Amino acid sequence: MKLNLAARLFAAVLGAAVVVAVAMGVGAHVNLNRDFLGYLNEQAVLRLELAVPGVTAGYQQQGGWEFLRQRPELWFRLLRPLPEGGSAALTERPKAAPTPAELTGASRRFTLLDAERRRVVGFDAPAADAIERGIVVDGLTVGWLVLTPFESVSSGAEKRFADAQQRTAWVVGGGAVLLAAAVAFWASRRLLRPVREVAEATHRLAAGDYTTRVPARGGDDEIGRLAHDFNQLSLTLQRNESMRREFMADVSHELRTPLGVLHGELEALEDGVRRLDTPALRSLKSEVVTLHKLVDDLYELSLADVGALSYRKTELDLREIIDDTAGAFGERLRSTGLALQVQLPAEPLPAFGDARRLRQLFANLFENSCRYTDAGGALHLQARREGAQMLIDLHDSAPGVRDEQLPRLFERFFRAEASRSRRSGGAGLGLSICQRIVQAHEGRIEARASPLGGLWLRVALPAHG
Ligand SMILES: Nc1ncnc2c1ncn2[C@@H]1O[C@H](COP(=O)(O)OP(=O)(O)OP(=O)(O)O)[C@@H](O)[C@H]1O
Ligand SMILES: [Mg+2]
Repeated sequence: MKLNLAARLFAAVLGAAVVVAVAMGVGAHVNLNRDFLGYLNEQAVLRLELAVPGVTAGYQQQGGWEFLRQRPELWFRLLRPLPEGGSAALTERPKAAPTPAELTGASRRFTLLDAERRRVVGFDAPAADAIERGIVVDGLTVGWLVLTPFESVSSGAEKRFADAQQRTAWVVGGGAVLLAAAVAFWASRRLLRPVREVAEATHRLAAGDYTTRVPARGGDDEIGRLAHDFNQLSLTLQRNESMRREFMADVSHELRTPLGVLHGELEALEDGVRRLDTPALRSLKSEVVTLHKLVDDLYELSLADVGALSYRKTELDLREIIDDTAGAFGERLRSTGLALQVQLPAEPLPAFGDARRLRQLFANLFENSCRYTDAGGALHLQARREGAQMLIDLHDSAPGVRDEQLPRLFERFFRAEASRSRRSGGAGLGLSICQRIVQAHEGRIEARASPLGGLWLRVALPAHG
């Protein structure tokens, strides 16, 4: 049989309460018998032994037990302990201070038996488990002093105790059921309901409903955190799903645009609207180049995604890579009227990386600055080492990127200016590729607003050695 959590909790609390109640009942019983009744009996035995010399002396003085049969009222006087050094005469025995045994009536449970074990005087129903002491006179046992234990005469008390315990057991048992029910009710409302909600929501999430959320209950306990993490999870899934959709839409759009242009131009050529000359070929080729670059970039990003992008890392000096790239862009920069300023340290910038990928990284950044900086502007590059890392700062002049768009620059297909014409801009993949390259080198790349008025890109890479 499968019990739900609330029922199991109910059973567990009930079981625990019953076990505790039973253990306490058994403990009380053991205590009463072993400790309390044991104590009473010990005291009574002491009293018994104290009485033996007095009873013996009585026998000697009276020459038998007959006097007790005649005058049973002397019995308790006979039981009085002998005074130290005093006379043993029955009439002169002083009343001693009552002992604990006296107070619980031990001497009322004493019986005197004669040599033939017939009762002479005292408690008239000595029990089978009675404690006995012989009365010895001149080497002969002339009688027995017998003590009947407390529990043998107190069956009423025992029964009362058992009844009381049963009553208590009923009360405790009822209390345990109520407590267990209350705990289970509370738990199913306060603890299990949120868990059930999360379980149901997970079911919906698994079925593909990424808009599923569970109500946040505001608690900072495990359940509150579970709900919070669940919401985070479905939000992430929802975001990933919409990113995937956007990505597909972007890819197809990016591919269709150059293909559409190509198609139109080819048709114009075919129909004779346009002549097949060098400018026409150049235009066709440039569309093919755009397509080619786009497909290459997508391929590269998808490789980076599956972790298959291979890096051939060697020890290298970053200064050389930066120098090479700056040199390669010299002509481009001059033609766009940008003043380049490169500041490199005198000592090497040792990195452990893939030279080709790092060149690609800086080429992408230079390419962006050429594309997205107004003519007559400036481009400043500064590289330095700070402890275990190397910082490369690239500043350019206006235009910049709006603050709220800065963190999004590294997203795929993100272009800061939606109005930017297809010709001057790319597909918006360059910076995401840059980010992949930097991450593969255990570094970081951040975009901020530059004091020069344009974009400030900071690359931080770990120094090697
Ligand atoms: N130096 C810069 N100054 C101003 N804006 C920039 C600069 N670099 C990038 N941007 C903005 O960030 C956007 C994303 O850049 P990214 O390099 O990722 O893509 P892209 O250059 O548009 O296309 P691709 O690099 O794939 O050919 C650009 O479209 C541009 O709007
Ligand atoms: Mg770019």
